[in-house]
Amino acid sequence: MTGPTILFEDIDERGLNTIDVYRRRGGYESLRKVLTTMQPSEVVDELMASGLRGRGGAGFPSGRKISFIPKVDVDKYLVCNADESEPGTFKDRELMQKSPHMLIEGIVIGAFAAGATKSFIYIRGEYVEQADIIDAAIVEAREAGFLGENILGSGFGLTLHLHRGAGAYICGEETGLLDSLEGKRGNPRLKPPFPANQGLYQGPTVINNVETLATMPHIIKMGGAEYAKIGTETSAGTKLVSVSGNVQRPGNYEIELGISSREIIYGLAGGPPEGRAVKMWFPGGSSSPVLTGDDLDIAYDFNTLAQAKSMLGSGAIIVVDDSVPVVSVALKLAKFYKHESCGKCTPCREGTRWTVSMLERVDQGLATPMDLDIMASVQEQIIGNCLCVLGDAMAMPIGSMVAKFRDEFEAHIEAARARNPWAGEGPPDPDPVLVQGASGA
Ligand SMILES: Cc1cc2nc3c(=O)[nH]c(=O)nc-3n(C[C@H](O)[C@H](O)[C@H](O)COP(=O)(O)O)c2cc1C
Ligand code: SF4
Repeated sequence: MTGPTILFEDIDERGLNTIDVYRRRGGYESLRKVLTTMQPSEVVDELMASGLRGRGGAGFPSGRKISFIPKVDVDKYLVCNADESEPGTFKDRELMQKSPHMLIEGIVIGAFAAGATKSFIYIRGEYVEQADIIDAAIVEAREAGFLGENILGSGFGLTLHLHRGAGAYICGEETGLLDSLEGKRGNPRLKPPFPANQGLYQGPTVINNVETLATMPHIIKMGGAEYAKIGTETSAGTKLVSVSGNVQRPGNYEIELGISSREIIYGLAGGPPEGRAVKMWFPGGSSSPVLTGDDLDIAYDFNTLAQAKSMLGSGAIIVVDDSVPVVSVALKLAKFYKHESCGKCTPCREGTRWTVSMLERVDQGLATPMDLDIMASVQEQIIGNCLCVLGDAMAMPIGSMVAKFRDEFEAHIEAARARNPWAGEGPPDPDPVLVQGASGA
């Protein structure tokens, strides 16, 4: 059993992307209920009661986030984070493609609760088809009176614009996204001030992930208390998980939070190909510390995964089987973060570059076991010392791989050394530039 289906209940209904079919399935009725019978504070109360936590990565309580918006008479904004750039994550794409009105309905509900009158969807540049679908849905919603001035005669008005990104991972980070939306280079901002106080154009701003917002109409429909009964006490509701890597049935699945991870990886996604075993898996996108094949019975929810020293993140489960060398995964991952680092702060800019160089030395058999200790310690120095968590997003999984697969790293070095021209002579003197990088100089 994987629990109730909420977001994906009608997801394969033909034509659900059109307003007619969406309304026939009860769409926009939650918005009607909100605008005709509820005060903004009551919507926030329902969201609080539901226990909904952000589905974009950090898992912050969604009702509480809206409650932080100051009740002052200035322009307020709601921004939907549809950048979906975390490797392995592709759930928002399916939601937007098949049910764009569910997202729009959630945006209007969230904006009403926050007192926002202007809203934006920031969608990743590669999602061309999904952006076109959303654009068409916005036109339909506006024509039907669910967007624009005086929605459903309530006196509440909201504008909604779609903004296409240009393919930078860092523009998924909420403040980098805001800078990009303002037309600047997408660099993260120093926090505080947090977006709730000074966000887009310095105004109070709520930023939520696509899945978080798309869940709001369902919470209004069923009531926060009912929603909270699904899942666990600290991880309420259902979650869309994107399962990829070495599994037989990769794809998006909606699960009740708290079911076993084995049920997702083997039950839903079919497990690794015949004859293969799970070597390791990322529970929440490539930024999450890896777990191993021994951890498959861990409950899939925010708190249990945190207790296991990993995280639920974006809900992207990447499975790696025992045919894949751990060093190749680590190197590929480090190269990604090095490429995507915006370069604004030193631990991330230098740490990602240095880690790639070090992993290349490991891969070529030029490193020593002591280098693995240095590499692990460098990851620890990155964590918590960066302006945003992109640096941590590389350091946490790399650190976990070195810690959990130390023997394989060492065997990889030995095997590579036996094959390369340095065999028998030991590794060359350490590169002074790399050693300098290791000390953080
Ligand atoms: C490097 C980086 C990339 C991120 N990418 C995304 C993303 O693509 N989509 C997303 O929703 N959140 C992303 N986040 C998380 C956002 O900063 C933010 O926490 C989230 O949009 C808040 O929405 P939620 O409360 O609904 O989860 C990213 C964070 C970091 C540090
Ligand atoms: S941690 Fe990396 S991506 Fe984030 S601000 Fe610093 S350099 Fe930029």
